[in-house]
Amino acid sequence: MTQTITVIRGDGIGPEIMAATLHVLDAMKLDLAYEEADAGMVALEKHGDLLPQATLDSIKRNKIALKAPLTTPVGEGFTSINVTLRRIFDLYANVRPAHSFPNTKSRFPSGIDIITVRENTEGAYMSDGQAVSEDGETATLVQKVTHKGSERIVRYAFEMARKIGRKKVTVVHKANIMKSTSGLFLKTARQVAAQYPDIECNEMIVDNTCMQLVMKPEQFDVIVTTNLFGDIISDLCAGLVGGLGLAPGANIGEHGAIFEAVHGSAPDIAGKGIANHCALLLAAGQMLDHLGMPEQAARLRNAIVATLEAKDDLTPDLGGSGTTTRFAEAITRRL
Ligand code: NAI
Repeated sequence: MTQTITVIRGDGIGPEIMAATLHVLDAMKLDLAYEEADAGMVALEKHGDLLPQATLDSIKRNKIALKAPLTTPVGEGFTSINVTLRRIFDLYANVRPAHSFPNTKSRFPSGIDIITVRENTEGAYMSDGQAVSEDGETATLVQKVTHKGSERIVRYAFEMARKIGRKKVTVVHKANIMKSTSGLFLKTARQVAAQYPDIECNEMIVDNTCMQLVMKPEQFDVIVTTNLFGDIISDLCAGLVGGLGLAPGANIGEHGAIFEAVHGSAPDIAGKGIANHCALLLAAGQMLDHLGMPEQAARLRNAIVATLEAKDDLTPDLGGSGTTTRFAEAITRRL
């Protein structure tokens, strides 16, 4: 049966990397149909709205979206569309794998296989309570962590670990200082972890985690943490394996999922035809896993690895001199 997915081409390098990604997916003949929808600056220009209702309706209907990066203008008056989408569809689990690939510019050419599971709807990234006093002297932000929110993200991490044969979950927190929010997260995580005796669980304070990730990344398997820490740690993990061009992410909820690259719209290289589309392509691989097509997901990943091994038309961020289009064609030839 044809699976329809909502496709959002996004801003900056978004249209370029989405075209390359769809080129590879089309070559796989997966019986996917695409429903195009606008969001971000493109949507603002075309429809006068950063997030048109038609886009929300499309995601609601299809329950699966593949999304290129969206630019969030810095400053007042604009809420991040990415954060808004995650909230509207209650996409509470942000799953970001970081895996060593051959021939990247990584300091760790092998041995890294870490999945960060980040709480995606609460913590420091809620828009509630963000205020600057009239005199501009004081800024405040409310952080909210709930038992329910912590319970479901930690359970998601353990269930995922069990399902895909992972051995260890590291709970990352700052409960020594942020005793209320991080404290509740840690207490809840301990309760959930006790229900999974088959999976090793350890706890680590976030600052030490960053140091440990750089010194001994091979000790990590699955990391589960709150929103802000997860955002930072997953970029750190992306850096360990060769940069943002190889870092995919899935935003998963009970009633839908949005797959995207971890990176942003990269305005510095937009329109130059040199963006690496692999992060979005790897996110499409996560989408295929989610859709119950693990063999096709593996086929896609194997083609990416084979292309990296052959150093065939890699983009400049990977040390090559290829273009987005030629890199996509090189992957397609190895499917
Ligand atoms: P960025 O991730 O767009 O770029 C950071 C650096 O990585 C730049 O030097 C860029 O050229 C490079 N880079 C990123 N993706 C690349 C790729 N596929 N191939 C080769 N090089 C790549 O981060 P930045 O500049 O902080 O953000 C730009 C915009 O993107 C902002 O408006 C931000 O809000 C938005 N953003 C959107 C996200 C999303 O849609 N999920 C996530 C992160 C940022």
